[in-house]
Amino acid sequence: MKSIFVAGLLMATSVFSAAVPVAAAPQKRQLESQGAILDNLYQQIVVQTTQINATRDNAPENPSALEIPAIADDINTRFAAITEALKQASTKSESQRKTARTIVARQNGTDSGSDDGEEDGGDKCDAACITGKVLDIVQEVASTIRAVIEKFGLAPFLLRINPLLLALSALVIGLDVLVSGLLLTVTAVVNVILGGLGLSLLALGFAAA
Ligand SMILES: *[C@@H]1O[C@H](CO)[C@@H](O)[C@H](O)[C@H]1NC(C)=O
Ligand SMILES: *[C@@H]1O[C@H](CO)[C@@H](O)[C@H](O)[C@H]1NC(C)=O
Repeated sequence: MKSIFVAGLLMATSVFSAAVPVAAAPQKRQLESQGAILDNLYQQIVVQTTQINATRDNAPENPSALEIPAIADDINTRFAAITEALKQASTKSESQRKTARTIVARQNGTDSGSDDGEEDGGDKCDAACITGKVLDIVQEVASTIRAVIEKFGLAPFLLRINPLLLALSALVIGLDVLVSGLLLTVTAVVNVILGGLGLSLLALGFAAA
């Protein structure tokens, strides 16, 4: 009797320990937190806004109609890169939200944090922290757009700025599920920075605050 019990116990243990490595692989991937996603996005955006600002600064004070297309091409490529980065961040953010509940359940059942070293504390980013990171991103993007429009006018950039702002609002709307009121906060900031420049902010997802 006793030996059967021991054998059963050993079997259960080996099944359990065999299951752990299988679960550990996806878990690591899923642990990329919202905070880390936003940090990564901000870094990608700054690479582009640095170049946009340099192009803007190096352009003549009053560029002629002949000079503007080349300048606009350069800046529009970078606006498109920002749009792409925003879309990728939204996708990552959404899949992270979908798996978050699974992770909590697994963490409770299995490890005690031994495998969490690579998170960099990103998971500890609470609502205020997420809001701060989002506002940094919004501020950087919106003020760069504003400076470009002020110098060169809106027309050469409209076709790139519209999808960019749509991608930005999509990201914020997704995060608004986690941090209620985030969209209203962001909308207020966007309206202050980009209001009056001829962009239809409401149509781009930023409800009038
Ligand atoms: C680019 O210029 C805008 C407007 O002056 C500024 O708000 C933004 O921080 C600048 N970005 C970088 C990376 O220098
Ligand atoms: C995980 O553990 C915490 C604290 O013990 C508990 O409050 C929570 O409900 C647990 N979650 C799941 C999904 O089991």
